[in-house]
Amino acid sequence: METENKEIQAPERRKRIFSGVQPSGTITLGNYIGAIRNWVNLQEEYDCAFAMMDMHSITVRQTPAELRKRTLELLALYIACGIDPEKCILFIQSHNSAHAELAWVLNCYTYMGELQRMTQFKDKSARHADNINAGLFTYPVLMAADILLYQADCVPVGKDQMQHIEICRDIANRFNALYGNVFTIPEGLLVKSGAKIMSLQEPTKKMSKSDPNPKGFISMMDDFNVIAKKIKSAVTDSEGIIEYRPEDDSKAGINNLLSIMAVMTDSNPEKVAEGFEGQGYGAFKSAVAEAVVEGIRPIREEYDRIIKDKAYLQDIYRNGAEQAHRIADRTLKKVYKKVGFVVE
Ligand code: TRP
Repeated sequence: METENKEIQAPERRKRIFSGVQPSGTITLGNYIGAIRNWVNLQEEYDCAFAMMDMHSITVRQTPAELRKRTLELLALYIACGIDPEKCILFIQSHNSAHAELAWVLNCYTYMGELQRMTQFKDKSARHADNINAGLFTYPVLMAADILLYQADCVPVGKDQMQHIEICRDIANRFNALYGNVFTIPEGLLVKSGAKIMSLQEPTKKMSKSDPNPKGFISMMDDFNVIAKKIKSAVTDSEGIIEYRPEDDSKAGINNLLSIMAVMTDSNPEKVAEGFEGQGYGAFKSAVAEAVVEGIRPIREEYDRIIKDKAYLQDIYRNGAEQAHRIADRTLKKVYKKVGFVVE
């Protein structure tokens, strides 16, 4: 009886995922392993929308030609990594005016005090003391608009973005309390990558594209021989034993290389370590370098092909913007009606 009932039930709506990335700076191996790779898996189970957040990028000064170039490069890289434009919505934030429009409305439902507490605002205004602009201050409101427009259930982000998800939920709950159920309340989805990739030079710190020492990170765009060199000069220890000891900071360098190798070869760090028992760090590093280069090679070949095909890229982002608009406009209309605008 019960199974029969289930069969006649309408299929549940697939959960929606929204995430975005700023086209500022290069994409590192850490970003690929920690974020993009996971999105590739998520697109099978969820309705996904991923966007290039160019409007967020201009909260710090950009070189216009660079920003434009990097936005397209990022889009090409996503596709090359396996994000399938047939399966998800892939678009450029500034192509969907609904983001700016909803952000304005939400600005009027967000308190100065809330924004003043955001750690990213405090950090960025310290780093860019000559340009503490209002956009930097209201950054979290635009981000809330990004997410709420799509009625996203889940937002995969790194730990540093969790505070932004929290404020997004606060704003959405506040709005819903006033006007009824307008927004889906999103959950932050801390991506469990199985591996947090650390700096090659200071392996107790996260690998970061803003590391002043380029030897600390691997860019997905680095030449293969540069990648190999960076891995070979990774900081290790003087113990000379290849063993995975995640709790031992003195092994941070080796732990990191083992994690990287494990991800690139679909294994786990313990198993990788076993395979190198008794061998020297030199041979181990060469093997890691080869695994990384071979892992990145097919992505890069695909990327090189896509980035040259401007017509294809244009097709993808135009199509993505159209789909994004369709979903976002529905939410925006609802919001406009609720706050008392005359709706056409
Ligand atoms: N703030 C995010 C970051 O710097 C990027 C971002 C903008 C984003 N809007 C978003 C991420 C919406 C997830 C959802 O990483």
